[in-house]
Amino acid sequence: MMILENLKYLNTILMRYYLIIIASALMSCSQSKVSTKESNVEEKFIDSVLATMSIDDKIGQTNLRGTSSRAKTLSDELKEDVRQGKVGALLNVMKVEFVDELQKIAVEESPSKVPLIFGRDVIHGFKTIFPIPIGLAASWDTDVAKSSSRIAAIEASSVGIRWTFAPMLDIARDSRWGRIAESPGEDPYLASILGKAYIEGFQGDSLNNPTSIAACAKHYIGYGAVIGGRDYNTTIIPEPLLRNVYLPPFQSALDAGVATVMTSFNEINGIPATGNEFLLKQVLRDELKFDGLVVSDWDSVVEMIAHGYAKDEKQAGEQAANAGMDMEMTSRAYEHHLKDLIKEGKVAEHQLDEFVKNILRIKLRLGLFETPYRDKNNEANFYKETHLAAAKEAAIKSSVLLKNSDILPLSSATKVALIGPLADAPLDQMGTWTFDGEKEHSITPLKAFKAANINFKYIRALTHSRDKSKKQFQKVINDVKGSDVIVFVAGEEAILSGEAHSRATIDLPGAQEDLIKVLSKTGKPIVLVIMAGRPITITKIIDDVDAVLMSWHPGTMGGAALQEIIYGLREPEGRLPLSWPKEAGQLPYFYNHKSTGRPANKKDYVAMYDIPVGAWQSSLGNDSHYLDIGYTPHFPFGFGLGYTDFEYDNLQISKDTIGFNEILNVKVSVTNVGERTGKEIVQFYTQDVVGSITRPVRELKGFQHVNLNVGETKEVTFKVSAEQLKFTNHKKIHAAEAGDFNIWVGPDAESGLKDTFYLKK
Ligand code: NOJ
Repeated sequence: MMILENLKYLNTILMRYYLIIIASALMSCSQSKVSTKESNVEEKFIDSVLATMSIDDKIGQTNLRGTSSRAKTLSDELKEDVRQGKVGALLNVMKVEFVDELQKIAVEESPSKVPLIFGRDVIHGFKTIFPIPIGLAASWDTDVAKSSSRIAAIEASSVGIRWTFAPMLDIARDSRWGRIAESPGEDPYLASILGKAYIEGFQGDSLNNPTSIAACAKHYIGYGAVIGGRDYNTTIIPEPLLRNVYLPPFQSALDAGVATVMTSFNEINGIPATGNEFLLKQVLRDELKFDGLVVSDWDSVVEMIAHGYAKDEKQAGEQAANAGMDMEMTSRAYEHHLKDLIKEGKVAEHQLDEFVKNILRIKLRLGLFETPYRDKNNEANFYKETHLAAAKEAAIKSSVLLKNSDILPLSSATKVALIGPLADAPLDQMGTWTFDGEKEHSITPLKAFKAANINFKYIRALTHSRDKSKKQFQKVINDVKGSDVIVFVAGEEAILSGEAHSRATIDLPGAQEDLIKVLSKTGKPIVLVIMAGRPITITKIIDDVDAVLMSWHPGTMGGAALQEIIYGLREPEGRLPLSWPKEAGQLPYFYNHKSTGRPANKKDYVAMYDIPVGAWQSSLGNDSHYLDIGYTPHFPFGFGLGYTDFEYDNLQISKDTIGFNEILNVKVSVTNVGERTGKEIVQFYTQDVVGSITRPVRELKGFQHVNLNVGETKEVTFKVSAEQLKFTNHKKIHAAEAGDFNIWVGPDAESGLKDTFYLKK
């Protein structure tokens, strides 16, 4: 009997290795997406592994154990848990020796010998830090997104990390929300194409390349819609809004072959995302055909108790399991209760098998069964020159020039006073979610100015962004006397944005505004550079400064990028991936809003101070606006200046009417009418004028980057088909509808040349 059992085991192991070899060979010549032919081999392999696993081994696979990246030693308890097969993946194991040791225990000593995956939040770079994601989104550039995540993957995989919890694809329409820093902004189209590029970069040509890391589309779903921008808060998202705005970036991530998806912390219409069967089973698995791994967010399973959805850990586990959530991050409801829940018939055993298959599938695609260990040839590729150059390029392409009264670029002869709490803040310029980047490598503006031999004087003036002290003000006024121009690097420290770092006011903290006001009285021109994790309201100081340059938190090479922009070696190439608010009280604000029954307009608008005292109540323009700040943002979505000017003309459409199977060509001429070569991002918007449900006033449908020499004209063409005009209505019908459409081609969401066409049945 014993011999028979052993033979059976040996047979299974041999079979497993035979299948690994075939599966790996097939996968190494494929992209990260796997065709049916390969899937059959994959599935056979997965089934063969599953067949050798006990119920405890299976539950072990669903456990993503969190550790502290600061741990100096490897605990015996953790080693023992891995040995017993109680852990499927680990988060934040950052010492390579620990990674190697734990993996060795898993593949040699654990009952099922299934390798572990090591995960980490590699969000906008690993060691070489790129601009924060909202900054990268401002590049509107898929090459920038892809190269940033490729480099992050190369660096992170060298220490054994094969899974990142990025990209974050939450549409964010409220800049008070601290996590807007990590978001792709407010537009589903832009988020979708950037998300795809990030995934291509992280996952490389093939997931089983040792420098590829599994990406994670997060947070599924609606996390950006938290009420009032308060983190972790409630969301209410009607299904058409879910499908038209929040879901498209996830659809695009799945099309790009994303390996994993993370559930979000928030509830949606009363049901937490982590226990939401409709979202996980019906939408993600049945409709979108996702075959990768779904992981919860940190403790989000047991947080269903605080949500008031589960009465205890066991019920939370049951709800998450029945909703189809595969792997539990940090909390242990599955570990503690899944076996009993299965025994009691509350969770089906085949549900657990499904979880394990999804997990094994990703481990297999990562090549972990064949090569569980870190590739020693891929060692410490940190801060390579090419990586730093890419980070600088990304920072240049992410910088958005919001105002320029003929002051930028500065000539090299200008004597500059470099001022401000962010001018030499190496940690803060890296932004939120940079656990591994080291501030010693940051090139701050101060460092960059020194390296470039700029004629300047540095005056810090405020120690950090929240410094309220005005003690230095008089000294600063004296110190700037000999300078021609003040470059004031203002903003927020990194810690003021990111997870759980929402703000109710989003102006410059501390005494920064006061100092700018005082300095403006000196008569010296001021170039305001902002480093922040979100748009900062600047209505109170905009008239005191001559230029405003948004550099977000620009990362390791931020200062070098800024120095080149300020002195005109390069121009700022970014465009806003969100609407820049005038005041926090205007939020949420987004360009693709609905029209309302009483759309705001210039003719009817009455400003607060123009209202006659004692005015009759109904004598004011009754439409959708604020009396005090109007109805437009400070700067619209898509906006950004360069160092030259462009003119748009000659908008032409190929037909006035198109059928459902036809393509409409939209052409426009763009000319560089300024005095230097420059780059424009030509944007294409549509509006479905009348729909079975109301439609947004504009929607981005395409954009193109064009480089133009002085005086040069280029014709830019966009193509429109019914496919791009589809939306989901209240009856869940996903289709384009016949009728009139407006189109605009222009430099932002509030301007552009306009035309119309008709989509005919
Ligand atoms: C919580 C965050 O919401 C999520 O984005 C992150 O990946 C996990 N923690 C792991 O750190």
